[in-house]
Amino acid sequence: MKKRILFICLGNICRSPSAEAIMKYYVKDRGLEEQYYIDSAGISGYHSGDPADRRMQSHAIRRGYDLTSLSRKFYPDADFSDFDMIIGMDDQNIRDLQRMATSEEEKNKIFKMTDFCQRFSYRDSVPDPYYGGDSGFELVLDLLEDAVEGLLDQLENK
Ligand code: 4NP
Repeated sequence: MKKRILFICLGNICRSPSAEAIMKYYVKDRGLEEQYYIDSAGISGYHSGDPADRRMQSHAIRRGYDLTSLSRKFYPDADFSDFDMIIGMDDQNIRDLQRMATSEEEKNKIFKMTDFCQRFSYRDSVPDPYYGGDSGFELVLDLLEDAVEGLLDQLENK
């Protein structure tokens, strides 16, 4: 059975679509495409149907990540049962997910992205880059690359 992973942020136009693209890239690189189903969603529906933020896209493509997914809202009823791991980008995402979970089983599927970081372990969230400058988008990519690598190492060593 495929491992089903859902990345969550607030708008699903910056951080979680990047996490999705980086995870897909690393999974392909390791020849594991048949073993993973990867998606992303937003706590808010403000940007539903929109492509990823242009600034995020331009920073990501320079590292070879093509952000193609369109924003969608997180749907607790479907997504808590459809996915094995639901990974939020910051503490507010985690609080929102915990609030929407309806059982211990659902709560146990919730993780924070930075918990998988190996190099950036001193940071406790992937900061929202939306209102900041270029360095915020680069930091998002640095943290996500680190966390995706840690996540895959953990899943594949099980
Ligand atoms: P994201 O960034 O959660 O990483 O997609 C944001 C995008 C849009 C907004 C906030 C955060 N917004 O308020 O519209």
